[in-house]
Amino acid sequence: MDADAASLAQAVLTWFRRYGRQDLPWQQQDAYRVWLSEIMLQQTQVGTVIPYYQDFLKRFPNIRQLADASIDDVLQHWQGLGYYARARNLHKAAGLIRDTHKGRFPSSMEELQQLPGIGRSTAGAILSFAFGQHWPILDGNVKRVLARCFRVPGWYGRSETMKQLWYLAESITPAQDTADFNQAMMDIGAMVCLKSKPKCEACPLKDMCASYRHHSQADYPQKKPKRAKPHKHTLMLLHRHAETILLWRRPPSGIWGGLWSLPEVDVETAIELWQQSFLSITQAPVSIQQNIIHHQFTHYSLDISLAIVELETLPEKISDSDNYAWVEIDALASHGLPTPVRKLLSSLG
Ligand code: ADE
Repeated sequence: MDADAASLAQAVLTWFRRYGRQDLPWQQQDAYRVWLSEIMLQQTQVGTVIPYYQDFLKRFPNIRQLADASIDDVLQHWQGLGYYARARNLHKAAGLIRDTHKGRFPSSMEELQQLPGIGRSTAGAILSFAFGQHWPILDGNVKRVLARCFRVPGWYGRSETMKQLWYLAESITPAQDTADFNQAMMDIGAMVCLKSKPKCEACPLKDMCASYRHHSQADYPQKKPKRAKPHKHTLMLLHRHAETILLWRRPPSGIWGGLWSLPEVDVETAIELWQQSFLSITQAPVSIQQNIIHHQFTHYSLDISLAIVELETLPEKISDSDNYAWVEIDALASHGLPTPVRKLLSSLG
């Protein structure tokens, strides 16, 4: 450990003794309790976890009782915590510990990582908290602290970024007082190095934090680059007879669910459909206006082309479904239409 890393660890430990959380119910407990708390804390905040943790231990006071319980019983005690895969993995792992570790909680990095639900960071937390071993951790909070302190480029989905974060975590984690140091890093992430508006003035890493020095706390951790939105294209059909047009009620789910719109065909298959649809039945003149509306949805953008079908007579029946209706243009206001479709219709005059 180099001098910088040693002084960082010193600053963190000194801070921890004054400001860190030292009375959480799973601190100074056996591996089973530490494990349970770490699993519960994976996606859930401390305040929510505490009562669940205590109730769970009343019902399943040791690994054996957890392993022997039914999965329904376990899930029932997890009810309300969410992310139920955690409970299933916990139960499965308890069975494995009973059957292949003689009921004793494993204490090596290798064995722990083979249990379902235990990744490298959770294993590091269990080994340092319950067994006093020297392993780094890298949970969501610690990632943010390190990404800011060392201005680590890239986002967490990149293997280079994760490699660098783990390298840093390994480099700064002291062999002495590892448990306190790990708890302190979690606490700094949860209480000081907040996602937005971090409390840098209260941070023990202030003097060595590259983001603080460069005023770039808001730029780290870097975000996942936004993908270009996919582009879609649809062809709407406007069947018109005098002052009447044909509307189609969209299916209840999906975009514009339940709203009235125009019948649509997929552009790629339009020609095929053309020959089967009511368009060909009518033998009506068709004019096409390409890409007359561009609409941005959250996840894609949509170009709408329009085929106008002038009908000489009003067909009596277009479909058995009541999702089609002939509507007077004057009566459009009383139908729920998506804004782009309303715009499109009003632009036609
Ligand atoms: N989040 C994950 N592990 C934690 C712990 N030991 N204390 C507080 N928050 C945590």
